[in-house]
Amino acid sequence: MNNVAVFASGSGSNAENIAKYFFEHESISIKLFLSNKSDAYVLERAKKLNIKSVFFNKEQFKTQNYILNILEKEQIDFIVLAGFLWLIPKNLIDAYPNKIINIHPALLPKYGGKGMFGDNVHKAVIKNNDTESGITIHFVNEKYDDGNIIFQAKCKINDQDTYQSLADKVHQLEYNHYPKIIENLLTK
Ligand code: GRF
Repeated sequence: MNNVAVFASGSGSNAENIAKYFFEHESISIKLFLSNKSDAYVLERAKKLNIKSVFFNKEQFKTQNYILNILEKEQIDFIVLAGFLWLIPKNLIDAYPNKIINIHPALLPKYGGKGMFGDNVHKAVIKNNDTESGITIHFVNEKYDDGNIIFQAKCKINDQDTYQSLADKVHQLEYNHYPKIIENLLTK
């Protein structure tokens, strides 16, 4: 079994979508949701989905091996970031080489880096009058939105689009592709 942990800071609709996709999967198990926000809705979703969840604060996150110990205890093999807003520390990256992936709601290398998350991204894309946006799934390294790209998918932007309607289109791409990319990486 490949045991997967999902890190999320907010709503966690991707985390839920991933958990549902892999429900009773033969070789992939979504074992744990982790969040750095005690009131993040992703923790509610974990309860409803019957998935174990862990909240950690900044101090714990920065304590050497605190997160690693949790992951090892749950025998986690692979880490999925889905709207997780803190930079992953080096000790975690070293412990999971090419086994931590992230999804970014735009076509990297455009619209990446610190502060470029959630609606900030979609607002910037709309402001620039871009005609397309999309998603990027990439390996995680020690910088924001910088690791090798695994997959991208695009959507068109028309004159009527707002940052909210663009966010909806991008979320739809995320729901359609993120679980399948995880499955490809873990079953190939
Ligand atoms: C997604 O758009 C993801 O690409 C970004 O944060 C958002 C998280 O949304 N990194 P949700 O919490 O999964 O609904």
